[in-house]
Amino acid sequence: MHLHLSPLSWASAALAVLITPAAGAALVPRWGHAVVHERRSTHPGWEDARRLPADVPVPLRIALAQQNLHTLPGHLLAVADPESPTYGAHWSAADVAAAFAPVDEARVAVAEWLVHAGFAAERVKVSYNKAWIEVAGATAQEVEALLETEYRIFKREDGEEHVACHNYSIPAYIAPHIDFVLPTVQPNTRLVKVQNRDGFARRQLSPAPNVNPTTIGLNGSLVGCDTLVVPGCLKTLYNVTYTPNATDRNTFGIASFYSNTYLQSDLDAFFADFSPALVGTSPILVSIDGGTIALDPSSSVGEDDWIFEYAMTLSAPQPVQFLNVGSQQTGQFFSLNEWLDAVDGSYCTSDGGDDFTFDPQLPNPLPGGFKDHSCGTAKAPNVVSNSQAVDEHAYTAFYRQRQCNEFAKLGLMGVTVLYSAGNTGTSGTNTGLSGTQSGYCIDENGSVNLNATNFNPAWPASCPWITAVGGTQVKANATIGHAPEEVWNQDLTMGFFESGGGGFSNHFPTPDYQKTAVDAYLKFLAKNDPTTLRNFNTKGRAYPDISANANSFFHTENGSAAIDSGTSGATPTVASIITLVNDARISAGKKPVGFINPTIYSIGFAGAFNDITDGSNTGCKGLQGVRDGGFKATSGWDPASGVGTPNLGKLIEKWLALP
Ligand SMILES: *[C@@H]1O[C@H](CO)[C@@H](O)[C@H](O)[C@H]1NC(C)=O
Ligand SMILES: *[C@@H]1O[C@H](CO)[C@@H](O)[C@H](O)[C@H]1NC(C)=O
Ligand SMILES: *[C@@H]1O[C@H](CO)[C@@H](O)[C@H](O)[C@H]1NC(C)=O
Ligand SMILES: *[C@@H]1O[C@H](CO)[C@@H](O)[C@H](O)[C@H]1NC(C)=O
Ligand SMILES: *[C@@H]1O[C@H](CO)[C@@H](O)[C@H](O)[C@H]1NC(C)=O
Ligand SMILES: *[C@@H]1O[C@H](CO)[C@@H](O)[C@H](O)[C@H]1NC(C)=O
Ligand SMILES: *[C@@H]1O[C@H](CO)[C@@H](O)[C@H](O)[C@H]1NC(C)=O
Ligand SMILES: *[C@@H]1O[C@H](CO)[C@@H](O)[C@H](O)[C@H]1NC(C)=O
Repeated sequence: MHLHLSPLSWASAALAVLITPAAGAALVPRWGHAVVHERRSTHPGWEDARRLPADVPVPLRIALAQQNLHTLPGHLLAVADPESPTYGAHWSAADVAAAFAPVDEARVAVAEWLVHAGFAAERVKVSYNKAWIEVAGATAQEVEALLETEYRIFKREDGEEHVACHNYSIPAYIAPHIDFVLPTVQPNTRLVKVQNRDGFARRQLSPAPNVNPTTIGLNGSLVGCDTLVVPGCLKTLYNVTYTPNATDRNTFGIASFYSNTYLQSDLDAFFADFSPALVGTSPILVSIDGGTIALDPSSSVGEDDWIFEYAMTLSAPQPVQFLNVGSQQTGQFFSLNEWLDAVDGSYCTSDGGDDFTFDPQLPNPLPGGFKDHSCGTAKAPNVVSNSQAVDEHAYTAFYRQRQCNEFAKLGLMGVTVLYSAGNTGTSGTNTGLSGTQSGYCIDENGSVNLNATNFNPAWPASCPWITAVGGTQVKANATIGHAPEEVWNQDLTMGFFESGGGGFSNHFPTPDYQKTAVDAYLKFLAKNDPTTLRNFNTKGRAYPDISANANSFFHTENGSAAIDSGTSGATPTVASIITLVNDARISAGKKPVGFINPTIYSIGFAGAFNDITDGSNTGCKGLQGVRDGGFKATSGWDPASGVGTPNLGKLIEKWLALP
């Protein structure tokens, strides 16, 4: 199999700036002791096969620390906190780039260190956004000496080989200037989408023959919505009566991966029953890294059919963008960074933040590989719905932090970024594991383990600067006005459970906007379920923030009626509702809502959600009673349903009252 050590596709030489070491080389700084900068935790599926030969070239790239990042949360709150006098005063992309670019001092210090370590100055180059330093033609031996490390070849079950090390060190003096160094501690980790296609986690059901979906949820009733959810059920549950009229000035996008696409014939069959005016209407393709709407042999249509049928119906006549990331095919994989690269060129590989251990290398140097890279090619829509989730523990701290910062920057620019909270309660998202191992927690060493009892949070849900969407379901025989929803928690087959993701980050602290809500919940647990307090980081960022129905969506898939469940459906539902709020604000001459968390947790908005107080999500396989081992819902915010499900009519009233 191919060894992933291809040379970098760097920005063209004309753009690279040659480093001139500072004058007075005699004043060599005291570098200080080398300290371990990153260390590899365990990675299921990768075997440490052998040492990398000393003369193999290693494409050394150093991510310089951006400046002023500690001010990012404050700036974000200034535009997103409803109490702030500058609420809604979003920044331009250029202002964001300028505010956080690494300082000259970082570049100079790192370059001096490299030159001092014996790399000739002409081999040391800076990327044109000044965020990265690259060393041309370094060998394994040279880099091992520089970083006090040893490179190993890691092998995956499928034969794929990647280069990585267990840990590396850099001098204390320059460590504050460096985010991370590549390649180092991570062999690649594959993403697994929330909705699992391997048999039992996804219920590929058809409606019972005696049920006619078009008779469900009519005239504001919920009759039938407990067995089959159609758009009418969601409109009734979430008080969706608003018809948008600023569609030419508003934008809404759905990010898609894994060669998923949709069939227009499926959309039209669904629209004919539930939104006849949309028949013949398509999503607007925004191609990222070669994404198309065409079917290829690995294409799947179920998830995107489902998502677009609902997002387009709920937000009609708002055009909906399809941010479709191409299938790379030649030994490469997908990452959450690809859509971020497309909407922010300063984050991109050739100029920013990708990591080839998690992100595909583009342009792809392999034969037949995709020879382009979508960097800054798209403008971020006002709302981006992402039905993906991976495990927080699968990434390094620096990688997580850098991606989370990027989400905060999008919030600063007025973009609402929504991610699904996962479908396995408190116990991860299956990343890197086969479906049969879903629902496992992590041990004290951060490894997924059959008997582990520490909850396994989802990513990016656990980043405090996105909005994480959990799941609910309609109660049996529910009627409107009598708390019709509870936490999504379904026994699929023989003890396999699906339930709304929820939990606490092991790495990001509780942000201020949710402290009051989280403290109240921790007190509830201390009183009612104290043993659960041992299973998670009580000081972590908690999620979900909000929720919506995740159960039994009727939809049309490849010509047939089908039922699907998952926070994959809850997320575009919430995204559609936020899009309608944005329409009302834009119609009134106001800005889109951007990062919504500080607002939805505020006291003034408490009445604009249906508080979910019944049910719980699932715990770990290793804990007594998987089904009840997770978090219970209670009044107010909880880590099973967030602040609750939206009431659009009330949200519009409240959001129109803000500047
Ligand atoms: C770093 O990794 C090496 C193996 O390459 C190991 O022997 C050493 O103990 C590790 N050091 C730390 C601090 O983890
Ligand atoms: C219920 O809705 C259907 C379809 O919109 C309509 O034909 C019917 O008259 C309504 N029934 C009542 C009782 O309002
Ligand atoms: C859009 O609709 C809202 C509420 O229905 C209304 O207040 C507003 O005037 C409308 N704007 C335009 C441009 O028609
Ligand atoms: C965690 O790591 C420690 C130290 O390497 C080891 O002794 C222990 O057995 C590990 N625990 C598990 C559950 O693997
Ligand atoms: C889990 O615990 C059982 C019972 O103690 C034990 O037999 C099994 O080996 C453990 N599995 C793992 C992966 O530690
Ligand atoms: C729902 O209604 C059906 C039919 O009336 C009844 O058989 C069932 O017990 C009810 N379920 C609940 C949970 O009330
Ligand atoms: C649709 O169904 C047909 C017939 O079963 C099958 O051959 C085809 O591969 C399916 N297409 C997709 C995109 O799932
Ligand atoms: C739905 O929203 C409207 C405002 O558009 C509000 O007057 C009404 O009370 C809301 N309905 C419910 C059931 O909350």
